[in-house]
Amino acid sequence: PDGSQVRALVVGTGYGGSVAALRLARAGVDVHMIEMGTAWDTAGPDGKIFANTTTPDYRSFWLRTRTKQPLSQFLGFPLDKDVPRYTGILDAEDFAGITVYQGRGIGGGSLVNGGMAVTPLRERFPEILPTVDPAEMYATYYPRANAGLGVTSVDTAWWESTDAYQYARVGRKHAQRSGFPFVFVPNVYDWDYMKQEAAGAVPKSALAGEVIYGNNHGKKSLQKTYLAQAAATGRVTVSALHRVTSVTPAAAGGYTVAIDQIDTTGAVLASKTVRADRVFFAAGSVGTSKLLTRLKATGALPALNEHIGKGWGDNGNVMCGRANHMWDPTGKLQSAMPTAGIDNWDAGGAFAEVAPLPTGIETYASFYLSITRTPRRAEFTWNPATGRVDLSWDRAWKQTSVDMAKSIFDKINAKEGTVYRSDLFGAYKIWGDHLTYHPLGGAVLDRATDNHGRLHGYRGLYVIDGSLVPGNTSVNPFVTITALAERNIERIVAEDF
Ligand code: FDA
Repeated sequence: PDGSQVRALVVGTGYGGSVAALRLARAGVDVHMIEMGTAWDTAGPDGKIFANTTTPDYRSFWLRTRTKQPLSQFLGFPLDKDVPRYTGILDAEDFAGITVYQGRGIGGGSLVNGGMAVTPLRERFPEILPTVDPAEMYATYYPRANAGLGVTSVDTAWWESTDAYQYARVGRKHAQRSGFPFVFVPNVYDWDYMKQEAAGAVPKSALAGEVIYGNNHGKKSLQKTYLAQAAATGRVTVSALHRVTSVTPAAAGGYTVAIDQIDTTGAVLASKTVRADRVFFAAGSVGTSKLLTRLKATGALPALNEHIGKGWGDNGNVMCGRANHMWDPTGKLQSAMPTAGIDNWDAGGAFAEVAPLPTGIETYASFYLSITRTPRRAEFTWNPATGRVDLSWDRAWKQTSVDMAKSIFDKINAKEGTVYRSDLFGAYKIWGDHLTYHPLGGAVLDRATDNHGRLHGYRGLYVIDGSLVPGNTSVNPFVTITALAERNIERIVAEDF
């Protein structure tokens, strides 16, 4: 409520925010979480909480009147359509050179992501977070994060036999025939539930193609893991449809946090202020970076240092599809939860996830999301003329990532006598090079903050989300974001509370 006092306020309910809330609450600290998206706890008119991937509706996009689907076309037909403006689950946030996809609602990105829960290879860790001790990460914090998130591996015997992973087996065959290592990756999906979906015993979710607009069953989003445990402490409250707009030192000590309550069309219903002893920025790489960049530039937090807004990367994301021969069908039933990738990181700078294309029809297509070792980093800056935060990403920079992804797929195409699909991202456009699912950086660890996420310039302000990670994790990022948050909050609880 307006005018209240809180000990710890957490901005955002994604991975970093959920870890912070749970660990603070377990240490006896009362926590209030602020989330601009909705709670996703109420069924829509179709009796389901989330919309299907193939039939987006008002629930699917964050404050847009037309969908902006990652795959904008199929077989030459545009897929986007008009929808009512609503605080939907997936934000396709446009900057000049890139569209950044993010989850919105209680649970953040865990609501919309593919659940791929990948711990990077230890030898690659120094490149990911150079100031963090790998020994403690791999002995303590990665295992803690994996346990907290409910990460498990698919039963490979079942995987070998189910129709739902035929597309992945085709992906493996083509990778191995070209000499690339094919690696299974764990996931947070409940595999027993998926087996029951395949057996027709329960309502389908992953096997109905549900993923980017939410999973109605089976996926262990943060609502079922960290946030459920945080709620069980009795010390954590969450306000959905509330957006933090400002944080500034309060005369009486601590911080004054300005918050807009919004309705489901995005209109402001009320403006509130809360006084918080400590504030944790966990609004995601883009959310935290935008807030801090603006607050520094406009005088609310002028003592933040020169690293605010810098070191942002797209995890080298680039998508593509390959057109297979008729004797290599990928299956009309495709589990929406990916299970594997092609690892050509050391030789070619790319790790390609073998992704589903859950259209419900046979497409003869193999689809991939590559994570690449691009050195490109962009910067957020305040634009006083527009009153917005800009991002200096240049679309042409993706060429480096495309070249790295080609280190895998040119070779596979040559070996298989196949070609790239050119009907998924626009006419004759092969590469999905306009987007990222993996924004990282903008308030980099040991630069904008100390080596545990305490913001330089202010006592009691912390960053605890993907903005700490300098632009690349070599694999899908949420396990690393969670593990780093576990590491940092342990130190913060011990020393600052
Ligand atoms: P996260 O973005 O999760 O949470 C931030 C929260 O803060 C959001 O809920 C947001 O609404 C809220 N917020 C922002 N500004 C605010 C404000 N001013 N006031 C109040 N609230 C505010 N990763 C992976 O490891 N494996 C995978 O399979 C995938 N797949 C995938 C698919 C798709 C479609 C997407 C979009 C993303 C993925 N990811 C992924 C990426 C992964 O989801 C992402 O890296 C994490 O969610 C980032 O976690 P954070 O804690 O940094 O922020």
